[in-house]
Amino acid sequence: MNILAIETSCDETSAAIVKDGREVLAMVVYSQIATHAKTGGVVPEVAAREHVVKILPVIQEVFDLSRLAVRDIHALAVTAGPGLVTSLMIGVDTVRTLAYMWNKKLIPVNHLDGHLAAAGITRVVQGESEIIVPVREVFPRVALLVSGGHTQLFIEKKRGERMMLGQTLDDAAGEAFDKAASVLDLPYPGGPSLSKLAEIGDDQRFAFPRPMSHADNYLFSYSGLKTALIDKVREVLPRVKKEQREKLRADLAASFQLAVVDSLYRKTAKAVQHFGAKQVVIAGGVAANKKLRDYFLENFAEQGVSVLVPPPMLCTDNAAMIGAEAYRLWKKKILIDPRKLEANPSYQKD
Ligand code: KG4
Ligand code: ZN
Repeated sequence: MNILAIETSCDETSAAIVKDGREVLAMVVYSQIATHAKTGGVVPEVAAREHVVKILPVIQEVFDLSRLAVRDIHALAVTAGPGLVTSLMIGVDTVRTLAYMWNKKLIPVNHLDGHLAAAGITRVVQGESEIIVPVREVFPRVALLVSGGHTQLFIEKKRGERMMLGQTLDDAAGEAFDKAASVLDLPYPGGPSLSKLAEIGDDQRFAFPRPMSHADNYLFSYSGLKTALIDKVREVLPRVKKEQREKLRADLAASFQLAVVDSLYRKTAKAVQHFGAKQVVIAGGVAANKKLRDYFLENFAEQGVSVLVPPPMLCTDNAAMIGAEAYRLWKKKILIDPRKLEANPSYQKD
């Protein structure tokens, strides 16, 4: 069962062909980073225009890479939301047209469910080479979704049975990274550039707060942490000589990163303990962060809890995760008439 999946919810134009929800036969991600770096962030209108230009070439490329033809595709899938409405519309309109013309079934996918489904992908073919991901799913498990727009914690008692425990009250973890990067004058995209600078920093130098970590709930909050960073930058940066600034900024970045990672860990660990979970899944763009991955792996290993985290390229936005989730929906017969599909920027689950 091969699904051709498309993702255009923000600033990545991506297509993938996914077999049985687990094997990525081909994937292409066209990132608009170079464009948005000029403005320091995503301008929705500009993002949509780039999707228009790239979407058909990206789809053609996955066919070329996989050496498959339209007749080998059993269904199409697309991110219907949440996301930027104009970006979503390009993917949705393209895919509904193709589904109609090719007479294929169409599966609308929630972007956030897609991120979580990435943790079930076992194989990614990349030209002549391939990545094999050992996936052993254990339930009950706790799932943490950390992206640019969302920070949510779930308990999964069985496969496909997910209940949200809590989410952020203000900024998402990715947003916190992006804002902190801009405070430190780092280039867009903020998360990766902050974590790169943090590699040479001392994460023990500044004791930033771990927001909400003592509250008896599963809520997160990052706006106070951002303010703490701004205050600290104003206090310490003007005091040092120019040649010491780089090291100081690295120490600030590393200490900030540790505060975000540790506060995510504390809430996840609390849920693991409460529900007796044997596994933790981390998904979303921030799950590409090396410190987060290492911190979770190390700390949960000590408790005999396994951590399932997709390879970094499946954490940030991509169409393979949409194909993985679409397969689950396909089995549940959740399809839509191509003529009825619309982009849904605030896609809520029912
Ligand atoms: O999931 P994603 O690609 O898009 C959304 O659905 O939002 O997540 C993007 C977010 C951005 O905030 C980006 O800065 C962050 O993920 N991110 C990272 C890293 N890579 C991406 N944050 C920290 N460290 C990274 N390596
Ligand atoms: Zn995303």
